[in-house]
Amino acid sequence: MKEHQEGRAIFKANLSGKDKGPGKAKGVFYNPAMEMSRDLHVAFAKELEIEGIVLDGLAASGIRGIRLILEAGLNVEFCDTSTLATNTIAENLKLNGIESTIYNKPVEELLQEKKYDCIDIDPFGTPAPFLEAALKGLNDNGILGVSATDTAVLCGAKPSICMKRYGANSMKKVAAKEIGIRIMLSKMHSMASEIGKGIQPLLCYSEGHHLRVFVKLTKKNNVELKWINTDMEIVEEEEYGAGGPLWVDKIIEKELVPSNYEGKLGKFFETLSEEANGPPGLYDINDIARIAEIGQTPQRNKIVKCLKELGHFASSSIFSPLGIKTTASKIERTKAIKLAQSL
Ligand SMILES: C[S@@+](CC[C@H](N)C(=O)[O-])C[C@H]1O[C@@H](n2cnc3c(N)ncnc32)[C@H](O)[C@@H]1O
Repeated sequence: MKEHQEGRAIFKANLSGKDKGPGKAKGVFYNPAMEMSRDLHVAFAKELEIEGIVLDGLAASGIRGIRLILEAGLNVEFCDTSTLATNTIAENLKLNGIESTIYNKPVEELLQEKKYDCIDIDPFGTPAPFLEAALKGLNDNGILGVSATDTAVLCGAKPSICMKRYGANSMKKVAAKEIGIRIMLSKMHSMASEIGKGIQPLLCYSEGHHLRVFVKLTKKNNVELKWINTDMEIVEEEEYGAGGPLWVDKIIEKELVPSNYEGKLGKFFETLSEEANGPPGLYDINDIARIAEIGQTPQRNKIVKCLKELGHFASSSIFSPLGIKTTASKIERTKAIKLAQSL
């Protein structure tokens, strides 16, 4: 097993993936392509000032939890079903001069015995089988972080599996990933309702091959799940091509988005912050150009600038390089893109 370094941690694990997709290591899983996800997790954890005990529920080498201990000062426990993984976590804790509790059992079982203030679920593929146990295993106001790499299912490529797994219609095209996030949230909201609780999304995003949500467990709320049609309108009932039922409220709390970061992470947080208060859904800049019957599509930032000058909410989005989030009508979007042509 090779030794690696990420953030302030040194640790042993088997490398998996080729810096991109999830891949599957024989042995103890470590995917360097998820480094940004862990960087972001550390930054966000600092912002939230989490107190109490955190569970790295599907820990593999323990790198996520170890970084949260070293870089955000959290109190993290670890769980994995693989004995090789839990033995390696023990070694990795020693390598970093820290001590903690490690459980070698299914996380669903652990969460029936013990509750946590913060739980992280980072599985291979879909998180669906873990959601109920994770929501039930949270203390009131606890925070749940969940990764999903079943993006094909959540983002329109496998609609029948999405319906079976998440109980919702996915969507293709530019808004697919944002809709995927909203579908995950709708599933979590419904499950939380069943145990007399609610959820409040704190920070949700897509990056590379994965989707990720952080939600707070709240008192039961009256949030209604709705649909988003192909014109990005929120509709109360299912209609042809619409995604849903899904979470149509906010998915990013602007004031919780970390600031003062530089480089790739800084740019990412900046975009998240810009789009936080926008409406659900995205418009494809090439579709706006086609409808406006103009030749080449202007740069996205120029279209955003013109939409803002026309008095509308407008932002780019981390969910798609071609997506624009805006409150502008079709006529106004057409007007803006024509103005952007001459910039
Ligand atoms: C994708 S890896 C986790 C990656 C890790 N969080 C990281 O940041 O590198 C998933 C891990 O979950 C473990 N696992 C699978 N099913 C589990 C279960 N029911 N309970 C606990 N761990 C489980 C696997 O052994 C594997 O180590």
